Amino acid sequence: MNIVVVGPGALGCLLAAFLAEAGQEVLLLDHRPDRAELINRQGLMVEGISGEHRVRAPVSVSPEEGAGAELVLVCVKAYNTASAIEPLVPILGPQTRVLTLQNGLGNVETLSTACGPERVWGGVTAQGATVLGPGHIRHAGAGETLIGAVSGSDQETSLTDVAAVFNQAGLPTRVEPMVDSLIWSKLIINVGINPLTAITRLRNGQLLDHPGTQWVMEQAVREAVAVAQAQGVKLIYPDPLARVKEVARATAGNIASMLQDVRAQRQTEIEQINGAIAALGRRLGLPTPVNETLTNLVRTIQDSYSAGV
Ligand code: PAF
Repeated sequence: MNIVVVGPGALGCLLAAFLAEAGQEVLLLDHRPDRAELINRQGLMVEGISGEHRVRAPVSVSPEEGAGAELVLVCVKAYNTASAIEPLVPILGPQTRVLTLQNGLGNVETLSTACGPERVWGGVTAQGATVLGPGHIRHAGAGETLIGAVSGSDQETSLTDVAAVFNQAGLPTRVEPMVDSLIWSKLIINVGINPLTAITRLRNGQLLDHPGTQWVMEQAVREAVAVAQAQGVKLIYPDPLARVKEVARATAGNIASMLQDVRAQRQTEIEQINGAIAALGRRLGLPTPVNETLTNLVRTIQDSYSAGV
C-alpha cells in the first residue's frame, strides 16, 4: 500500500518504521528540511519493547511527492492538523483516505473540512513511543489500534484492507464502527493522565501513588464523562475511571506525551484535551472547574518557558 505518514514525531516514526519494514511503500513528510535530511541519512531508529531496528523510509519536505497515496496517516500534534493537511489537499486522489490516530478532540472535524468527510477515517491507538532524537524513538507501549469511517460504513472494505496492512506489520488493528465513541474514550484517558503528568512531572504510573493526583484525576474524569454523556456519546468502557487507572498502571513507566512536550518546552495539546472539555462544559452549562484549572495551569507552564524557571 502506498502510504504517506505526516509528521516524524513519536507515533509517526513508529508507524512509518513498522509499515516500511513490512514492505509497504512509505513516505514520511516533514516540514523541517534539516531533520528530513538527517533521517534520510541515518534511517528511522526504533528501540524498546519491539527490540532494536533501523529502517529506511524516504523523508521529504515536498507534499507533491505524496501524490498517488492510498492512505495518509496524520501524526502531527492536534494543534497542527489544519496546517499539516492544507498542502496535501491538492495531491489527494479519489481513492486516497486520510486517517487520524491523534489525541484530542477536533481532528476528524478539521480533516473533514479540508478533505471531505467521505475521505476521513478516525481512530485511536494504544501504541506509545517517546522521541529520543530526530527519527529515533523508544517504543514504550504496545496495544490495539481501532479504526473506523466517519461518514458511515460504506468504506468497510478498504478499512479492512488497512487493518490487514497494519496487522501484517505487527500493529494489532481492528475496525470499529463507532469512531466518536473511540475518540471520546481515548480523550477521557488523556484528560485523566496527561495534564497531571505535565504539572507534576511524574510518570503515568506514579500518578496513582499519591492521594492528591488520584483525587484530581477522579474529578477531571468525572467532569469529562458528564460532558460526554450530555453530548450523547457512548463510551466504550463501562467504568471510565477504572479504565483511566488501568491505562496509568499499564503504561506506568511512560512519560506521557504532554510531559514530553513540557520537558522539550513545546506547545502541548491541552486545548484539545482538558481545554476542549472545559469549553464544551461552558457551552452545555455543565460545571468543569477541575478541567478549567488544569487547562490554565498547563497553559501557564507553556506560556512561561522563556521565563526559565
Ligand atoms: O498521550 C499519551 O502519552 C498517551 O495517550 C497515554 C495513553 C496517556 C499514555 O502515555
